[in-house]
Amino acid sequence: MHRNSIDIRSVEATDREAIARIDEIITGRPRPEYWRTRLEMAALRPPWMSLVAETDGRVVGFLFGWVGESEFGMAAKTAWIDLVGVEPRYRGARVGQALVDRFLQSAGELRAIEKVATLLDLDQADVREFFLHLGFHRGPMVQLEKTVQ
Ligand SMILES: CC(C)(COP(=O)(O)OP(=O)(O)OC[C@H]1O[C@@H](n2cnc3c(N)ncnc32)[C@H](O)[C@@H]1OP(=O)(O)O)[C@@H](O)C(=O)NCCC(=O)NCCS
Repeated sequence: MHRNSIDIRSVEATDREAIARIDEIITGRPRPEYWRTRLEMAALRPPWMSLVAETDGRVVGFLFGWVGESEFGMAAKTAWIDLVGVEPRYRGARVGQALVDRFLQSAGELRAIEKVATLLDLDQADVREFFLHLGFHRGPMVQLEKTVQ
């Protein structure tokens, strides 16, 4: 477990390879095109919504989010976290927490947002436990889906 200082900053185009490498470690598959598109999208959004964590002089985690005004029938403006990932050997050192804290802080300070939400697979225990530890709780929404024939 690493206990060096963690710097959180906005994503830059030059972070793409580092992020894609962490994602490949986590998911087990390379997705270079996905990350190309994803970073292009990030460049169109306010910088605080797309973050990386640096420690030991390298990128070891990332968080991507966005803000919804009334999507999914939600009355309040809501900041959504849709991707968070920390390189396995840097886990347990509050890198993920630092990313979420910065996102929450910026959402509150820059956009006066009072609610932050995420969607997760309840079977994905690490992500579930992480968000529960950070004070997130189960909301009233449920995901509905249908297979396209
Ligand atoms: C979930 C994840 C982001 C957590 O990152 P992390 O840097 O290890 O988490 P932190 O060290 O900041 O943990 C913050 C708190 O949550 C707790 N926590 C984190 N992961 C936990 C787990 N798996 N089980 C129980 N508690 C956990 C920590 O103990 C800590 O609590 P504390 O303050 O009481 O000590 C990381 O495990 C991860 O990247 N998982 C894979 C995510 C993924 O699949 N993303 C999609 C693909 S990109």
